[in-house]
Amino acid sequence: MRVLVTGGAGYIGSHTLLELMAQGHEVCVLDNYSNAVPEVLTRVRALSNGAIMDFAGDVRDPAMLDQVMQAFQPEAVIHFAGLKAVGESTEKPLYYYDVNVGGTLALLHAMERAGCKRLIFSSSATVYGEPVYLPYDEAHPTNPTSVYGQSKLMAERILTDWAAAFPDRTAVLLRYFNPVGAHASAQIGEDPKDIPNNLMPFIAQVAVGKRDFLQIFGDDYDTPDGTGQRDYIHVVDLARAHVAAVTYAEGATGARPFNIGTGQSYSVRDMVAAFERACGKPIPTKQAPRRAGDIAAMQADASRAAAELNWAASHDLDDMTASTWAWQSKNPDGYKGA
Ligand code: NAD
Ligand code: UFG
Repeated sequence: MRVLVTGGAGYIGSHTLLELMAQGHEVCVLDNYSNAVPEVLTRVRALSNGAIMDFAGDVRDPAMLDQVMQAFQPEAVIHFAGLKAVGESTEKPLYYYDVNVGGTLALLHAMERAGCKRLIFSSSATVYGEPVYLPYDEAHPTNPTSVYGQSKLMAERILTDWAAAFPDRTAVLLRYFNPVGAHASAQIGEDPKDIPNNLMPFIAQVAVGKRDFLQIFGDDYDTPDGTGQRDYIHVVDLARAHVAAVTYAEGATGARPFNIGTGQSYSVRDMVAAFERACGKPIPTKQAPRRAGDIAAMQADASRAAAELNWAASHDLDDMTASTWAWQSKNPDGYKGA
């Protein structure tokens, strides 16, 4: 299929391009490079030996969207382009709603003008909020605790209403758990612009000597070792879930949410220990207070994705840490070192 990938130069998008091309899909990227660099696509092209049409532009720009639709005529769109920093979203709510909700609306309008009927959306487990029960299944109540989470839930609602209004539209809502890891080539990976917000890139920067120690946010949670537990998923498994979603979208209509996780969870201390195994050196840590807004634990029930998308994660924790370490140690300054 011809698949337009918004935000395709980003962390998850770049890995997804490779998996799509490996399965014979044609791809086109629209990215405004607000959180990526063009070097990413240079590397993806080298790894895939494939052609990638690409446009530098904003997903909120109708003229740009029309130009892309006309040039590429996508049969499906995977919509990664968005903002993702939970803390920043509270400080800049209008910006987050503009990009994450406004961007999705602008994209849907352009798809309607172009006759494109299938959209795969980057949603997040954060739409669930404080767990009423775990593992979360897709019927768990949604009650996001951040502007970021609200923006994802609003976009889900818009997509659900869009798909309900027309009999032949498809919206696949992928609720990601915690993506980590890097491509096996160590050529592409996660490259945070500033101080990493997330655990795994922070640990990786400590391991490579860019930061002195990891702060462990909270050791008094109701978890076996007192630190927060998450369902970490290898980015290549997550990328493959998008390929599965494209196949699903060919044969299904309506809107449907899917949890994309492994169904297992690990604590902060588990992650530090696994990373130490991968890099062969100690990761210095300091105990710090809980981070505002964090929940104790979360875990996916990913059985719907297994049954309906025919997808399941296959990489384990050691694959996640080893690939992160390979990427970080070969690219200590990320893409900037290129
Ligand atoms: P990323 O920042 O690496 O990728 C997003 C890409 O979108 C970047 O290349 C950025 O330049 C581009 N972009 C941003 N705003 C744009 C705009 N207005 N127009 C065009 N391009 C724009 O992030 P990622 O980790 O790859 O995440 C991709 C998607 O998945 C995001 O929507 C994010 O909210 C969602 N998500 C991420 C996580 C996570 O932990 N990484 C978890 C759940 C959901
Ligand atoms: N943590 C630390 N020290 C750090 C960073 C994180 O102890 O320096 C802890 C957190 O307190 C938490 C765990 O590591 O217990 C994971 O934190 P992350 O920031 O890596 O991930 P979150 O679960 O908070 O959030 C991530 C993304 C969200 C997404 C969510 C989906 O940032 O965008 O996963 O589950 F919505």
